[in-house]
Amino acid sequence: MSHAKQGRVFSGMQPSGEAHLGNYLGALRQWVELQETHECFFCVVDEHAITGEYSPSDLPGRVFDLAVSFLAVGLDPARSTIFVQSDVSEHVVLAWLFNAVAPVGELERMTQYKDKSTNLESIPVGLLNYPVLQTADILLYRADLVPVGEDQLQHLELSREIARRWNARFGEYFPEPQPVISRAGRILGLDGNAKMSKSLGNTVGILAEPEEIWERVRTAVTDPQRVRRTDPGRPEVCNVYSLHKFFTPPEELPDIAAQCRGATRGCVDCKRILSDHIAEHFAPIRERARDLKADPNQVREILDAGAEKARAEARETLEEVRERMGMRWRDLPILST
Ligand code: TRP
Repeated sequence: MSHAKQGRVFSGMQPSGEAHLGNYLGALRQWVELQETHECFFCVVDEHAITGEYSPSDLPGRVFDLAVSFLAVGLDPARSTIFVQSDVSEHVVLAWLFNAVAPVGELERMTQYKDKSTNLESIPVGLLNYPVLQTADILLYRADLVPVGEDQLQHLELSREIARRWNARFGEYFPEPQPVISRAGRILGLDGNAKMSKSLGNTVGILAEPEEIWERVRTAVTDPQRVRRTDPGRPEVCNVYSLHKFFTPPEELPDIAAQCRGATRGCVDCKRILSDHIAEHFAPIRERARDLKADPNQVREILDAGAEKARAEARETLEEVRERMGMRWRDLPILST
């Protein structure tokens, strides 16, 4: 990792298993690029996953599958530090220490917290505290840049607030992390829902086989005003067309758009073209994933090495934090060494 790189990046993703199209377009693609220019830490955040409904017996497989997706898309352990959050216990320690300055009022104002807590009979404190752990993830590595989707901007703002409050109380130390917003913008679900997410079942796995990709893409919602095959469509509002822009060669796009507007191609044929391009785009990635899954110990070794690198950084930060927060009773002058 060269210091000539332009700053430190941290990002995390919840272990929902194999990554899907939204994860790829909204995050992973950009992470792969960032590792060329920045010193990067990429983390499977399994300790965040326990704040919602989850099954302990499924979690290990979800962590492993997401790690395989990370590596298959091209996150490179030679360039980035790739690891699992729970392997580096310093995350939880720093989160607790941040509790000393994290404001409850602000935590209660987080929209993600409000959404996830509304229908719960009993709200786990971890749901409220989620952004404090997220802040610890970032600041444990003194990262100044955080690639995130729009939905995480509020959490990042809170991270800066926590950094400021901590610095004001214990001395200037942490950077105020800035978001790096994905240029992909918001990726709609295949059903037209505002967010592509595994739990909503409106996505395609990036490692899906071509037939499975087609099964999913075939169900995608298109321009709602194009009811009949003969109705002219509006590519600019069509969910499928927005995906064409990512996967279909740019020189083919004008034709796709024109055939839609002129109703000379039906939605099913248009989706078929998209589906084929998606399958083709992910072919090398599927191939790499297959190799990784055939040698799971290779994945373990990569994550173990990543955790070790992460831990070395994390320990330095915690050392400084403990010092400044007065967790140094052994240094009392009345004690001899
Ligand atoms: N909350 C983020 C999400 O749901 C995941 C996450 C956890 C994260 N810790 C992070 C993202 C630190 C960026 C930095 O997308």
